[in-house]
Amino acid sequence: MDNILITIKNVHKEYRTGGPSTVALMGVDLEIKENEFVCVVGPSGCGKSTLLNIIAGLEHYDSGEVKMSGEDIVGPGPDRGVIFQQYALFPWMTVRKNIEYGMKFIRKENRGKHYTRGEKRKLADHYIKMVNLEGFEDAYPKALSGGMKQRAAIARGYAVNPRVLLMDEPFGALDAQTRAQLQEELLLTWEREKKTCFFITHDVEEAVLLASRVIIMSARPGKVMEIVNIDLPYPRNQSTKLDSLFIDYRNHIWDTVYKMYLEVRK
Ligand SMILES: Nc1ncnc2c1ncn2[C@@H]1O[C@H](COP(=O)(O)OP(=O)(O)OP(=O)(O)O)[C@@H](O)[C@H]1O
Ligand SMILES: [Mg+2]
Repeated sequence: MDNILITIKNVHKEYRTGGPSTVALMGVDLEIKENEFVCVVGPSGCGKSTLLNIIAGLEHYDSGEVKMSGEDIVGPGPDRGVIFQQYALFPWMTVRKNIEYGMKFIRKENRGKHYTRGEKRKLADHYIKMVNLEGFEDAYPKALSGGMKQRAAIARGYAVNPRVLLMDEPFGALDAQTRAQLQEELLLTWEREKKTCFFITHDVEEAVLLASRVIIMSARPGKVMEIVNIDLPYPRNQSTKLDSLFIDYRNHIWDTVYKMYLEVRK
């Protein structure tokens, strides 16, 4: 459990887009352990998505170090699956094709072979069922609601079976019931498949329910302000929210984030 999988050291990132530049990250230090569930919270614009995109290899950084298993992260790879804040589906592909798409690039565990068509279909169907999209396999994204599109994007992220799941507010756009169900599914998937999860959310309850550690980032320029170990046993489910320790964690994290929000608005 204590093997460090991802190391982020003193990472700086500035966006320069012609006008005044924005310092998004200023000296971020973080270690993510193998099989750990890390949730990241912090005020809007504090650099959470930027940090996730850097770990995904989708964004450059100016200085510092970002390594996975001791190797510099220089680009995206099938070991890291990303589920974005906004549903990101190919509009010209059906739900099933969207989900099967990523599987083209990966190989079966241990055997090193690519998936056959039949295997891809079986896996896609399994994840379609998980996100309650049965009956919409052959629909195109334009025929789906926002929440349904996001559920299809989640299924696609899971189907690639990456070692690390990088999730940027994946449940933010969903109705409360689907959100609760997918939180529990994610916890089960994480426990069963021994994944490492890096999960951004604005919902403090969601962070405490899911995470073994909650990272609180400070307002821009972002850095790690506080790390809270969530010492609540797994398996967890919605009733974990009634635990008095849960409520203490939630109140502490909420107060910390809200204070920063008020500071920024002053
Ligand atoms: N492509 C970009 N070009 C220029 N500035 C950017 C770009 N992406 C992000 N920024 C800026 O960097 C800062 C951090 O943005 P980021 O998207 O990482 O924040 P966030 O914490 O994910 O916010 P939210 O909670 O609203 O999603 C913001 O000030 C934003 O304006
Ligand atoms: Mg964001």
